[in-house]
Amino acid sequence: MKINKLAIDGGLPVRKNFLQYGKQSITENDIKRVQNVLRSDFLTSGPKVTKFEQDLSEFCETKYAVTLNSGTAALHGMYSSVGLSVDDEVIVPAITFAATANAAIYCGAKPVLADIDPETMLVDSGDIESKITSKTKIITGVDYAGQIADYDEIKKIKNSIDKNINVFADAAHSFGAFQSNRKSGSIADASSFSFHPVKGITTGEGGAVTTDNQMIYKKIKQFRNHGINTEFQERNRNNTWEYDIQEIGYNYRLSDIHAALGSSQITSVDSKINIRRNIAKNYDIAIRDINGITSLKTLTKNIHSYHIYVVKIDLNQFKVDRNQFFLALRSENIGVNVHYVPLYEHTFFKNFGFIQGDYPNSKYIYDRIITLPLWPDMSEYDLNSVIEALKKVAKAYKR
Ligand SMILES: Cc1ncc(COP(=O)(O)O)c(C=O)c1O
Repeated sequence: MKINKLAIDGGLPVRKNFLQYGKQSITENDIKRVQNVLRSDFLTSGPKVTKFEQDLSEFCETKYAVTLNSGTAALHGMYSSVGLSVDDEVIVPAITFAATANAAIYCGAKPVLADIDPETMLVDSGDIESKITSKTKIITGVDYAGQIADYDEIKKIKNSIDKNINVFADAAHSFGAFQSNRKSGSIADASSFSFHPVKGITTGEGGAVTTDNQMIYKKIKQFRNHGINTEFQERNRNNTWEYDIQEIGYNYRLSDIHAALGSSQITSVDSKINIRRNIAKNYDIAIRDINGITSLKTLTKNIHSYHIYVVKIDLNQFKVDRNQFFLALRSENIGVNVHYVPLYEHTFFKNFGFIQGDYPNSKYIYDRIITLPLWPDMSEYDLNSVIEALKKVAKAYKR
């Protein structure tokens, strides 16, 4: 029957229009609040930035939050705040977005890759232990897909070796997630967020660091503003033009336009994350009936925020590999993706001597994963079309 013939083989696709894997969710209130900034006195370094930082620290239950103009800048600021430099090493998971490692390289330090747990795709604490050296300055966990890495375990391991190592979170995926009743952003020594459009909240481009550590907070505030020791509003209040540059810094400031959007997004984030969880629950249920496809494991102490939903293909049960599976789903107009190409596979990172064989779990899982579309404004039709396409492709390629 034509309907069952895969679109990649000339059959009818499950849906006519292409469904993207992730997308921002913007309310009328978001638009109004951005418009209000455009009519106000400050487009940058103004009150909306202060307000967004207050909203973030309240939401993440931390003493401090400092905004920057991307998640990458947030990682750079977080690493720099503890004086990361040449000869230092930063341990990061082998599968993450490149920025987690790149920010270490910006500081002149060397990224060191730890393998991941193939069940959760979170960094493997045992492998971290084997990678700690006298040069290790930072260990960065990544809250892959929206579940928080096991920072308690990472801290236990580093405390048994060197208490001075900083444990940081790349929490770009986990805004709004919980672990043992603690909010994402409040568990590691400091946590960085990204507010890129596909993330839990968006500011277009933007990022932040949350922490309870005043020193880290103050350092990043200067770092994002050329290393200047005071903020523009502060100088205005004190009737002075003078300032001192104490360390090298950057222009990594978030504008008030972006910040106003961020504050507005926070007001609806809980309901949007609940929608994400509901979509994920529907995927969980549907996948139970598809032999050969499973979802990643969630640690019992975690409440996921489902930035993305990743499935694992059991290659023994299908006639094709993941790449063919991916292309077949794309032909059905389902915008699947893969997160991420392991760092050791990239030409640039090969310069650091990384070899695929050193990360067997990352290699194993990378060959089997596919990210399904998931975003708050997806319709029921969108959700059902993904499930239908998954079933169709799995059936056609069943061994
Ligand atoms: C895990 C992770 N870290 C860091 C980043 C960098 O964030 P940004 O794109 O805001 O610079 C991203 C964004 O995709 C990410 O997914």
